[in-house]
Amino acid sequence: MRRDPLPGAGPAAETRPDALYSAVFRGVLSRMDPEDAHHLAVRGLRAAHALGITRVLERMTRPDPSLAREVLGHRWPSPFGLAAGFDKGAIAVLPLAALGFGHVEIGTVTAQAQPGSPRPRMFRLVKDRALINRMGFNNDGAEEVRHRLDETRRRIEDLKAAGRHAPVVGVNIGKTKVTPLDDAVEDYLISTRRLAPVADYLVVNVSSPNTPGLRQLQDIEALRPLLEAVAREADSVARRHVPLLVKIAPDLADDDVDAVADLVADLRLDGVIATNTTISRDGLQTPVSVVEAAGAGGLSGPVLAERAVAVLSRLRARLPEQTVVISVGGVVSAADVAERLRSGADLVQGYSAFIYQGPFWVRGINRGLAAMAPDRLRRGTRRGRPGASAAADGGSAGHA
Ligand SMILES: Cc1cc2nc3c(=O)[nH]c(=O)nc-3n(C[C@H](O)[C@H](O)[C@H](O)COP(=O)(O)O)c2cc1C
Repeated sequence: MRRDPLPGAGPAAETRPDALYSAVFRGVLSRMDPEDAHHLAVRGLRAAHALGITRVLERMTRPDPSLAREVLGHRWPSPFGLAAGFDKGAIAVLPLAALGFGHVEIGTVTAQAQPGSPRPRMFRLVKDRALINRMGFNNDGAEEVRHRLDETRRRIEDLKAAGRHAPVVGVNIGKTKVTPLDDAVEDYLISTRRLAPVADYLVVNVSSPNTPGLRQLQDIEALRPLLEAVAREADSVARRHVPLLVKIAPDLADDDVDAVADLVADLRLDGVIATNTTISRDGLQTPVSVVEAAGAGGLSGPVLAERAVAVLSRLRARLPEQTVVISVGGVVSAADVAERLRSGADLVQGYSAFIYQGPFWVRGINRGLAAMAPDRLRRGTRRGRPGASAAADGGSAGHA
């Protein structure tokens, strides 16, 4: 097993942004509108990729082989990946993967292209290392994104053939804003037809707070027909089983989390992603005036962690053992990733900390994970029995 003796690579090092990025963040990015900074960073990353710089970087950033795992029929080079929303249009999947992400979840993509909410629509709460966003699913639409993913997939096959780092690519779909809620199923089906064939896994997003009415689709009576229809269509158009997950909000009441878990089990869905951003503003250090000035939107970052872990544990206790849970919300360090894995997650994602920690954040996480004892990265055990969930240790009724 290869361990690069680079400085700063230790279990806690990834919580400290590297000095260069700190300087760039303080001096340049934090003075820019967060969305402009985002576009600049993505353009820079794409340029570095086009120039072959990320190819050199890949040697430093490639996850240690010991981190690879088999989940949902795919080999994931690391349990840690990039959450939806960063690369909504699949314009930078490979440059992002070159930083060390084991997977990149693109989207949210909607059936029709749409501009999203008026700007400004993304805000930093620096004191909390948090973000508030009301992007409103700005994206180029399923047809355009399909073309980009076709090309990305071809290049991923080449990477695999060359034995290079190749990410798993998830596709997250949502409802077009102008489509009435009553027609939501057909809208998701349009995206499914276009995108399931190019997805390693598909995510039905019913939990973003910025599309009016979207989260009502989390009600079981609405969710059941939606998930049934997407699951059927995805497998049929792709002519293979396309793993399907549903992404839920942290603001669901515990009973509603249980109800979603029961539905997922009943439909034999592949998994759940928990959680999206919250509409709560509790627990912030940032002055209320600053938070209020940002206005409506979803809050993300460390303030979300406690609820994300609680929802994860609740899901794990309720879901069949084989149902996959991807945990997201407030992950900053390798220790956070390990905690999620121990609490029953199969995979873990992050977004907000990437903005604050910079491009080498994921490398630090992967190194921190590789330095840990393997049993820290597995679900908690009951009397040493591998595979039993941590939540089940608490005596909750299992469902399987
Ligand atoms: C600016 C921004 C845009 C996002 N866009 C999406 C999106 O389009 N679809 C989605 O499912 N989640 C989206 N998310 C939510 C993230 O995928 C993630 O669930 C959430 O930010 C919690 O993780 P974090 O605390 O690591 O940021 C977005 C988050 C941010 C900060």
